[in-house]
Amino acid sequence: MKTIIEPFRIKVVEPIRMTTREERTHCIRETHYNLFGLNARDVLIDLLTDSGTSAMSSGQWAGIMRGDESYAGSESYYRFYDAVVDIMPFKHIIPTHQGRAAEKILFSVIGGEGKKIPNNTHFDTTRANVEFTGAEAVDLVIEEGKNPQTVHPFKGNMDVAGLREFIKETGAENIPCVMLTLTNNSGGGQPVSMQNIREVRSLCDEYELPLIIDACRFAENAYFIKLREEGYAGKSVKEIAREIFALADGCTMSAKKDALVNIGGFLCLNNDDWAMSARNLLILTEGFPTYGGLAGRDLEAIAIGLEEVLHEDYLQYRLRSTEYLGEKISAAGVPIVRPVGGHAVYIDAAAFLPHIPKAQFPGQSLAVELYVEGGIRGVEIGSVMFAGAAKMELVRLAIPRRVYTQSHIDYVIEVILEVNRRKDKLRGMKITWEPPVLRHFTAHFDYV
Ligand code: F0G
Repeated sequence: MKTIIEPFRIKVVEPIRMTTREERTHCIRETHYNLFGLNARDVLIDLLTDSGTSAMSSGQWAGIMRGDESYAGSESYYRFYDAVVDIMPFKHIIPTHQGRAAEKILFSVIGGEGKKIPNNTHFDTTRANVEFTGAEAVDLVIEEGKNPQTVHPFKGNMDVAGLREFIKETGAENIPCVMLTLTNNSGGGQPVSMQNIREVRSLCDEYELPLIIDACRFAENAYFIKLREEGYAGKSVKEIAREIFALADGCTMSAKKDALVNIGGFLCLNNDDWAMSARNLLILTEGFPTYGGLAGRDLEAIAIGLEEVLHEDYLQYRLRSTEYLGEKISAAGVPIVRPVGGHAVYIDAAAFLPHIPKAQFPGQSLAVELYVEGGIRGVEIGSVMFAGAAKMELVRLAIPRRVYTQSHIDYVIEVILEVNRRKDKLRGMKITWEPPVLRHFTAHFDYV
């Protein structure tokens, strides 16, 4: 098999500012060793997130010029609407400025004290929005999904037996919906199988519960199904995506991921009453229902992105380039969450730095070192982010879509392998200051 090349050529370039180790040592000290505090111009390869960081295509940029900025009933809204229902055949399509705005509106309508919402794993903003209403967010991913080293083709699957128990204990009347996050970001970007979605659907039918999909990375999930699940090799990714959404009653979407845009999101619903309440809330905080916090040009870019993201040469390159990074560092003995997920490689910092106890934040130490060594910015997902609730000590290297070439990734590999050679010298860290909530964004650190 020949090299899987980037299925695009570069029309516009964004220069990267080269920095020296001395400069980076200075910059990171200035931010008290918090990577969120860095000025992005001091970062060489930014793997902080795959959200809102995609490179748009020439087609999308052309669409931006075509954007119709009418307040109500803009043509761009109708193109957006058609593009969404082509894949996600729901009755109501409600644009929002990003994914969490869709979540905030949905849970304001269906959440509240005494309610519980199960999911394979709630993403942070989903959990926060559920809990903000007084409801409880419950994670029910399969056992394999909790262990970094356990290999399973669909590590994002819901524990269906666990879900049944949960429904019996909680009572269906206290569960406004069941959710599935595709792919499971918090568990390593792991996919959910069609069979699992079908099983969750039939359990929902049994108890008359709606199924809502967190669709952020639906295209990557659909391509994993094509590659890994029996009976799907011959289907197009679009057919697979349609099959997924036909099993659900609605979805929340961050267009900043699998719609290949820099801002945007939407909420889809079949339930007329929910949709009416959602639109009423939308008008309060986002805007009129045909633009929902977005410019007409953004809706246009989403419509085009949703079409492009299902191109199979794109998805093949996408999943392969993430896997390539994971494969190379894993072969050199760097422990990672396996198998590699769709949008990111997660280094298991606890296993990588066994001499640094959890209380001294091995993930933070590693993330800082990757920046000092090579200007790479990843993010700690462990005891800094979740304090005592952290189940794993990970450093996530999220790959922006269509942004970096193979030589950028080769460089990232070289930097990680260099840090690997002298990992015994890495030191633990302590927090010297922290805010009352969401400490990872602004906390100060120092070496112990
Ligand atoms: N759901 C999932 C699974 C996500 O990964 C995200 C965002 C959201 C919802 C919220 O969407 O950012 O548009 O409001 N994840 C980003 C990340 C921030 O870095 O993983 P949003």
